[in-house]
Amino acid sequence: MENFVYYNPTQLIFGKNATDKLGELTSQLGKTVLLVTGKGSVKKYGYFDLVSNQLKSAGCRVIEYDGIKANPLVDDVEKASQIAIEENVDVIVALGGGSVIDSAKIIAVSAASELDPWKIMTWKAKPKKALPLVAVLTLAATGTEMNDAAVLQNHKTGQKIGYVSPLLYPKISFLDPSFTVTVPKNQTAYGIVDLIAHSLEAYFGDGESPLADRFVFSIISDAMENTPELMQNLSDYELRAKIMLDATCALNGITTLGKKVGDWGVHGLGHELSLLYDLPHGASLSIAYPAWLKFHSEKLADKISKLGENVFKTKDVNETIAQFEKFFESIESPINLKQAGISALEEEIIYKQMLKNQVSGIKHKLNAEDLKNIVHCMIG
Ligand code: NZQ
Ligand code: ZN
Repeated sequence: MENFVYYNPTQLIFGKNATDKLGELTSQLGKTVLLVTGKGSVKKYGYFDLVSNQLKSAGCRVIEYDGIKANPLVDDVEKASQIAIEENVDVIVALGGGSVIDSAKIIAVSAASELDPWKIMTWKAKPKKALPLVAVLTLAATGTEMNDAAVLQNHKTGQKIGYVSPLLYPKISFLDPSFTVTVPKNQTAYGIVDLIAHSLEAYFGDGESPLADRFVFSIISDAMENTPELMQNLSDYELRAKIMLDATCALNGITTLGKKVGDWGVHGLGHELSLLYDLPHGASLSIAYPAWLKFHSEKLADKISKLGENVFKTKDVNETIAQFEKFFESIESPINLKQAGISALEEEIIYKQMLKNQVSGIKHKLNAEDLKNIVHCMIG
């Protein structure tokens, strides 16, 4: 067991009508609000009106920034941060999935410090403060609602990278599972893949902590148990609630308690696929994880076997990997490039992209030859 400091300052308000106090609590943080949203789902399904009415009733002035795309771009963050500075914004409210909340996190630090967002992301500028951030989550997947990370894409530099800082924790996150009943089937599936992938990144990370491993097995098992029914009943509140809690717990720090750090190599592989083909994050992971596991099946045989024993009741390494593939396929998340509509002819391009950005894990380092082999395993 490693020494550790556990710090998670996000206040989580979870459940039906969770946003009832959103106006009141946000207005205590500031009166001029930048409300950040995505490409329109929140307006279509009424969450936008609910949140902006709450804010206005509490006496807030609401400035809107919409159009954040899935796999968010630093360009939007630059524009929104400029608006936040010009309008003297006091507080950022993010209403959406991981892409919106991640963008809002970097808007909050870059606006408060008047620093360039990409310089922050690449550690060339070091922010000392952030505007308070309130998150209203509409998609169960990333765990960003209760963590200190944000991921952005920059097509000028050809990178999709994460940035981690205690400044990024939302002050308050509102999680009403009924906001997620409109998430379409494919995005629901990608979210479930993502939460499983976060659990696995922790499990294959650095350090040993049996309790943390048990959290991982429980989160994966809970999600897998509820998924088939959820896929048949997308508007079921209880099932949505279970998956929402799974997703938050998969990346709020509990799965690495007593460990040094997660591995994150598979996320690195997935980010390059998203960058090249704009693949949804979860879809990139259902391709990358089986390939990574197959590549490591001998080296990590004991670890994979223990995972199989606890999640699938099999100690067989290949059977464990096959079970993950079967699950991902059952929810129609691609398990290879072919299923994602990406030609085998792209193999070299993908490999070179991964090499260029030096994709590797923290615990399980990947050299050029490893990357070549893993990409080959992705072909299908
Ligand atoms: O753009 P809108 O119209 O909002 O539609 C979104 C988007 O098309 C839609 N959606 C969201 N909530 C909805 C909804 N549609 C109907 N009803 C709702 N209630 O779903 C689509 C995907 O949204 P997005 O925010 O991109 O998905 P997700 O939450 O999976 O976020 C993915 C991003 O988070 C990053 C990923 O790399 C990716 O960029 N990650 C962030 C992490 C973190 N901060 O800790 C960790 C993760 O590993 C991940 O890397
Ligand atoms: Zn992820």
